[in-house]
Amino acid sequence: MSVDRDRLARIIVSGIRDIEEWRLGDPELAKAKGYPREFPAELLDDYGMLFIDLTLDAADGSLVCHEVNGPNAVGSDALTGDSTARAENEARQAVRRVREFGYVNADGSLGTKVVTVHAHQHWQFFRTGGEFFPRVARFADILESLVPGNTVSCLSANDALGEDDVSVVMGDVPAVCANITVNPQNGMFEYLGRPIVFMGNPNLIPELERIGRVSHLCRTSGEVNLRPMHAWRLCGLVHDKAGQQDLFDNTGVRPLRHFTAGSVEEALQKSKEMLATGPVVLKPSDTSGGTGVCVVVPGMTDSEILGALETLQSECREKYGENIEDVIFPVQGFEFVRATSYPMDDGDHLWDLRMAVLFEPGKAFAYPVSLRLTPEPFDNATFHTNRRQWISNVSGRRETLLKSGMDDDVLRKVGMTDELMEQAMKACVRWTMKAWDCTVRDGGNGGAVYEDFCEEADKPFYRPEKFKA
Ligand SMILES: Nc1ncnc2c1ncn2[C@@H]1O[C@H](COP(=O)(O)OP(=O)(O)O)[C@@H](O)[C@H]1O
Ligand SMILES: [Mg+2]
Repeated sequence: MSVDRDRLARIIVSGIRDIEEWRLGDPELAKAKGYPREFPAELLDDYGMLFIDLTLDAADGSLVCHEVNGPNAVGSDALTGDSTARAENEARQAVRRVREFGYVNADGSLGTKVVTVHAHQHWQFFRTGGEFFPRVARFADILESLVPGNTVSCLSANDALGEDDVSVVMGDVPAVCANITVNPQNGMFEYLGRPIVFMGNPNLIPELERIGRVSHLCRTSGEVNLRPMHAWRLCGLVHDKAGQQDLFDNTGVRPLRHFTAGSVEEALQKSKEMLATGPVVLKPSDTSGGTGVCVVVPGMTDSEILGALETLQSECREKYGENIEDVIFPVQGFEFVRATSYPMDDGDHLWDLRMAVLFEPGKAFAYPVSLRLTPEPFDNATFHTNRRQWISNVSGRRETLLKSGMDDDVLRKVGMTDELMEQAMKACVRWTMKAWDCTVRDGGNGGAVYEDFCEEADKPFYRPEKFKA
């Protein structure tokens, strides 16, 4: 008998509350539905992956986005049951960097020993090992086949580096960051002194900021070479939830009203203004897993709003440690979206649908991943006192709360028609291109690119008001 390596990893992590998204995978159904859907994307000149969490606003039926997640996110195995395409995309980027940085000799041998870094959530919050470990192993296999004649080994962040040409290191964010430094001569990330050619998790950057290895401005200052990061051009934007909303303009997803606040006082002031039109979701910068995300509602007193802001900060401190203030500001505020209902025995639940965009030079592939339901039914009178009524990603993630993004019954219940799925995929690819273009141009106006797509998305791109003096 031989044991399937992926299966073994999944059996082990199933004992530590793994969400087992891979169980949703159905390769035949994916094929029948034409997923992943390929889109031409000439503008994209590199590799990467995004996970875009969408829902439908019950008030007007529009598609809206909760968050664009970077390539640390999971769910890529919910389509077919594995993440091979993602692992291949990562490995191809790593090989490109090895060449680009000049580490390959004419005979194909590596002249420098290099490291690839694969970081997952802090151990105590980590529930996606069934996706992560098989993917890293697949990455190592594919990489080895792409650099023949060189040796590749997989290590934990607790191991010393060996003599292999490529060390594939995995561990949680704090453990791998402890071994990462920046070479002041060339701005390259190094792992125990060896150059890093691939880093698969943008959350490494805020942790490196927090422990003082890079400055808070490193995503824009040029002090570090970000090219080893997967989806490197977007590593600032995947943590800038307000900037993300601006880029949805003219994509087919309605941008949410939002603000950013550099201090608690400013957050209080701006929350009060936005509360005039409804509840406001407050989010810290640079966090994940729902940490610190809270809601304030009309009628709250100043001290109640300040209490919510205090909870936001203390939750971040608890997860990430001290010295978090620089990282979590600006705090951001968003209009609260009450999603359409998913009816269950105990009442109506809110939801979001994760769309994946995997991209490589010239092409993007989009597909629905999973639909996440909130653990408790929504009640307009009490949801601000109970996050389980409105936050879908801190849920118990029991099987019943995680549905396949290909499940027609589920999609029909929440109102996601075939047309809306199509619109959602196109919008996600458009967002990716606009974001890429925007960072290539050093910022720029989020709404000012991709005329053709914009025209197609029914709002005229050349709106007269754009040209008013
Ligand atoms: N504007 C919003 N309206 C309603 N619910 C929201 C909104 N933004 C986020 N949520 C809910 O809160 C959860 C956490 O927010 P998110 O921005 O995804 O934080 P994180 O980066 O920590 O995952 C989302 O999964 C969603 O369920
Ligand atoms: Mg999220």
